[in-house]
Amino acid sequence: MKKLGIVSVALILIGLGVWLSYQIIDIITSRANQATVVIPADTTSKIPITLTLPGADSIDVRIEDYRKAGSLWVIVNKDYPLTDPSYTPAGLAVQRVTVNNEKTLEEQSLRSDIIPDLEAMFLAAKKAGHDIMLASGFRSYQLQNTYYSNYVRISGEEEANKYSAMPGQSEHQTGLAFDISLTSRECYLETCFGETPAGKWLAKNAHTYGFILRYTADTTEITKYQFEPWHFRYVGRE
Ligand code: DAL
Ligand code: ZN
Repeated sequence: MKKLGIVSVALILIGLGVWLSYQIIDIITSRANQATVVIPADTTSKIPITLTLPGADSIDVRIEDYRKAGSLWVIVNKDYPLTDPSYTPAGLAVQRVTVNNEKTLEEQSLRSDIIPDLEAMFLAAKKAGHDIMLASGFRSYQLQNTYYSNYVRISGEEEANKYSAMPGQSEHQTGLAFDISLTSRECYLETCFGETPAGKWLAKNAHTYGFILRYTADTTEITKYQFEPWHFRYVGRE
């Protein structure tokens, strides 16, 4: 009986020891992964805020309101619809790149401040041997509503929600996001676009011009949209 008591106490002590070690490892690991952010008390001041990620050079952070529709870093998705559903970006302009002529001039437009980077990307794609065009740019709330309603009619609501944003929830309404296709229209807004040389080139190089592939194959759980190798969004080169 006495022996059993000693064994039980020993087991409890070992268990406690193991648990404590895990806690300590956890604290050390989370400390190691923590970024150091130096935030001045007055965030409107011009003092740069420095962010240091583990193993990377420090960078100066800019403060942006990700809910502000006009911000280059606005977040628009199923969880964060545009705060003003009727929002139309200022300075929309038809881009001087190859565009889908079947679309209205409005849908061929994007925010003018992204023109230089868009043109640079299209030029680089051309030099690399890819004939691409802007398939769809800015979409107003009304236009997105038309598209979405048609898709629901064709596929049903559940399916449509996997590939089309509801009006007020589309990045296209910010004038910062657009779809790209081959001028030949092969794999037009289809997953196989990602397998074409142009689709591969864009996925690899778009970020160097300030654009990101928004709905990747391995992030569907997060984005809540299927893989869209044609949909890019501007965040700036920086
Ligand atoms: N296809 C994307 C999700 C949109 O409709 O904005
Ligand atoms: Zn799109």
